[in-house]
Amino acid sequence: MYYNIDMKILITGGTGYIGSHTAVELISAGHDVTIVDNLFNSRISVLDRIEEITSVRPKFYKVDLCDFSALEDVFQHNDFDAVIHFAGLKAVGESVEQPIRYYDNNLISTLNLLKCMQKYDVKKIVFSSSATVYGDPGVSSYTEDLPTGQNIPSPYGKTKYMIEEILKDLHVADNTFCISILRYFNPIGAHPSGKLGEDPNGRPNNLMPIIMKVARGEYPELSVWGNDYPTPDGTCIRDYIHVVDLAKGHLSALEHLTTGVGVYNLGSGKGTSVLEMITAFEKASGKKLPYKIAGRRAGDLAEFYANPEKALRELNWKTELTIDDAMRDTINYLNSL
Ligand code: NAD
Ligand code: WQD
Repeated sequence: MYYNIDMKILITGGTGYIGSHTAVELISAGHDVTIVDNLFNSRISVLDRIEEITSVRPKFYKVDLCDFSALEDVFQHNDFDAVIHFAGLKAVGESVEQPIRYYDNNLISTLNLLKCMQKYDVKKIVFSSSATVYGDPGVSSYTEDLPTGQNIPSPYGKTKYMIEEILKDLHVADNTFCISILRYFNPIGAHPSGKLGEDPNGRPNNLMPIIMKVARGEYPELSVWGNDYPTPDGTCIRDYIHVVDLAKGHLSALEHLTTGVGVYNLGSGKGTSVLEMITAFEKASGKKLPYKIAGRRAGDLAEFYANPEKALRELNWKTELTIDDAMRDTINYLNSL
């Protein structure tokens, strides 16, 4: 089914990195966007940026999804057609150190959201999952039919797997639900306007935010976690996807929502090594990026990337932007900070 009408969309976690880019794409496509976020890992000024880009300021509620009555109040005062659920804690290493906090935040927030959706008859949801749900499947190219839930390296990743299972059970109980589970690979880049990007509170874990901190002189150098992997240059290979392409994937998922549970990989299908990422950043910035080769990071797989054919076939979506586009937009965003 294709919804050619404007919808009222609730975006949880909509002031965050991926949520804010998705808000821009949705508003630009004519949808009516409301954001709920507790601002734990994002800033209220993101709303100004969204308005500068789209000329529309989304309605905003500073609400913690773990607070059921505050969330219910949002549903009581709005009539949503669909929800895109980004809100969650996402730092992999931190989740190993603080598992209860991660299970508590990510699962309770989702359960509260689903209770409200049931109660207020909102039956369409797009959920932010992750390639981490595949664990260590023994192949490099991931298709959606690979088993999930085995050898997931972190409590964070397990919350994604558990939420996927909760959504599938919900559909078994109520087959009027339309559910799209999007498994992201490695999101990078920024909005080409330079107004939105990833600027996490606290110490980042992911490669690109660390590269940005090295480029700004906040960290002396990047540690490349291992160069003895069985890959052409010895460093790990990942499928990096421009955040604007990823945001557009949500629009496609929303517009193709149908009863059932659809699971889609959102990635480019191409792998890039850590050293190739460094070279691409240096080319875009015109400056050397200081780095050293360090030991392997626990839990890293040598190589994986998406098989994105199902998303093309069923959602009519594929990536259009390149690593070089992502580096250019990241540097543009860096210069605006
Ligand atoms: P982000 O931290 O920038 O955005 C998440 C937002 O959720 C933040 O603004 C945060 O304040 C908010 N939030 C967290 N807990 C909340 C709660 N209980 N109530 C209300 N708001 C809450 O992260 P992101 O990179 O934009 O990721 C968005 C989603 O995509 C997350 O669920 C993440 O796990 C998932 N994901 C991210 C990546 C990635 O590498 N960035 C990869 C795969 C999946
Ligand atoms: C990318 C590559 C590192 C930092 C994680 C989550 C996954 C998903 C995306 C949410 C790896 C190397 C990194 C550094 C390095 N998130 N690296 N030096 O581990 O592929 O995936 O984020 O769902 O669930 O696990 O991403 O950005 O941490 O690392 O050499 O300082 O960069 O070894 O090869 P990863 P990443």
